[in-house]
Amino acid sequence: MGQSREKQLGQFFTPPEVARTLVGWVVHDKRVRLLDPSCGDGRFLTCHPRSVGIEIDRDNAALARAQAPGALVHEGDFFEWATQTAERFQVAAGNPPFIRYQDFAGDTRIRALAYAERLGVKFSRLTSSWAPFLVAAASLLRPNGRMAFVVPAEIGHATYAPPLLEWLCAHFEHVRVVAFQQKLFPQLSEDAWLLYCAGYGSRSDAVYLNDFERFVADEPLPRFARRVELSTWRAAGRRLRRFLLPSESLALYDELSARPEVVRLSEVGHAGIGYVTGANDFFHVRPSTAKELGIPARLLRVAVRKAEQLPSVSVDRAAVDGWLMSDDPVMLLHLNGQDRLPDCLRRYLSSEHAERAKGTYKCRNRSPWYAVPDVRVPDAFLAYMSGLRPSLVRNDAGCVCTNSVHAVTLKAGVSVRAVQEAWRSPLCELSCELEGHPLGGGMLKLEPGEAANVRLPLGEVGLTSGEIETIRGGTAHARRWRHYG
Ligand SMILES: C[S@@+](CC[C@H](N)C(=O)[O-])C[C@H]1O[C@@H](n2cnc3c(N)ncnc32)[C@H](O)[C@@H]1O
Repeated sequence: MGQSREKQLGQFFTPPEVARTLVGWVVHDKRVRLLDPSCGDGRFLTCHPRSVGIEIDRDNAALARAQAPGALVHEGDFFEWATQTAERFQVAAGNPPFIRYQDFAGDTRIRALAYAERLGVKFSRLTSSWAPFLVAAASLLRPNGRMAFVVPAEIGHATYAPPLLEWLCAHFEHVRVVAFQQKLFPQLSEDAWLLYCAGYGSRSDAVYLNDFERFVADEPLPRFARRVELSTWRAAGRRLRRFLLPSESLALYDELSARPEVVRLSEVGHAGIGYVTGANDFFHVRPSTAKELGIPARLLRVAVRKAEQLPSVSVDRAAVDGWLMSDDPVMLLHLNGQDRLPDCLRRYLSSEHAERAKGTYKCRNRSPWYAVPDVRVPDAFLAYMSGLRPSLVRNDAGCVCTNSVHAVTLKAGVSVRAVQEAWRSPLCELSCELEGHPLGGGMLKLEPGEAANVRLPLGEVGLTSGEIETIRGGTAHARRWRHYG
């Protein structure tokens, strides 16, 4: 089976000891019927004799039948089966496919989102497959039923996690997320956590959270967990991940965030994506090529094409001169609003290279195809995918940028130097960890919406050395969760 099919169907199998432990959490009585909505090769089914599994992949379904001869295995799409079955289960367990929204397509996606909507959850188009799987599996439980699933750690920060958690709390008496610092699936860049829900048909006003160093096989569900009130979670941007922070650091972070001199980036400016050309190699030329073709300077802009290009403090004249001297392909053809193009450009736009560019999705969908929209000169650039911390770099040379960095534009009267200084503070460093999210491999990512929430101490906050220590301790703790270093 090729990698693409594995990816397409989210086929990553659960270590047997994890499957056994999850089944142990929900099965308290041998007579109950267990549902696994995406049973793969049947490793959850083998843990309990009275099981029903659904599996879309023929080979996996055959393996599941062979491995769990006592179980009933249906081959097909779970959502189709779920709309037709009259069966209801006391318990459910499994590992739903993790298919990102870009690949989660076709009839299954339509059925999945429609099924969830009928149950009252409106997922956005950015939703990955596992979230509607959980909602649909829950809907097949009998009153007071329980379920336990492997879930991506995205449950702690993805924009589609809040409607899921709200729905789970509106339908279960107890909702629990169990997070592990050491990876459950070492081969995957995305972390996996565990979800446990009990008391289907009741509701709860809190999510319980456990954070452990590592998974221990066959341990019962821990008796104690941190109680996160839904009201607190809602007020804090509906991200569960922040509650993994030591309470002392989180309390100080919240207290500092409420001070008048501490602002969100969105209060003083805007971080948005840079322009999208559709064919970067065509639209960016080397200074030598621009000269050779005779392109006038007024139709060229010097661009930041990727984060690696950024110096640490400022894109200034010296940085730009360096790129030009090295003949880097950083000259953007900026042809917006040009009624008459010089002959040299008309020749470039009808070259073979241009034909290929013209065929790309972005170029086909704009008119004229060669006019790149949204080319602006921001006040600063934000490297939004970073190792240790995202850097904010001043734009002192009037450059433009592609979407591989964020373009930060400040409101009138806001000093870019003051914002940059605040960006280097320990508070802002912690804020990036809390408002951003891990990307795997130790990387931190700040989406524009996340960057908007980053806290900046723009006035004198006057932290004691003990408080600085608490903030730094929080940052170090948060970085462990993204496996940095
Ligand atoms: C993450 S794997 C888990 C398999 C197994 N439960 C385990 O944990 O090892 C997800 C499984 O869901 C299956 N799958 C994907 N889409 C499905 C769908 N719409 N209906 C049923 N199964 C599906 C995949 O083929 C894959 O075997």
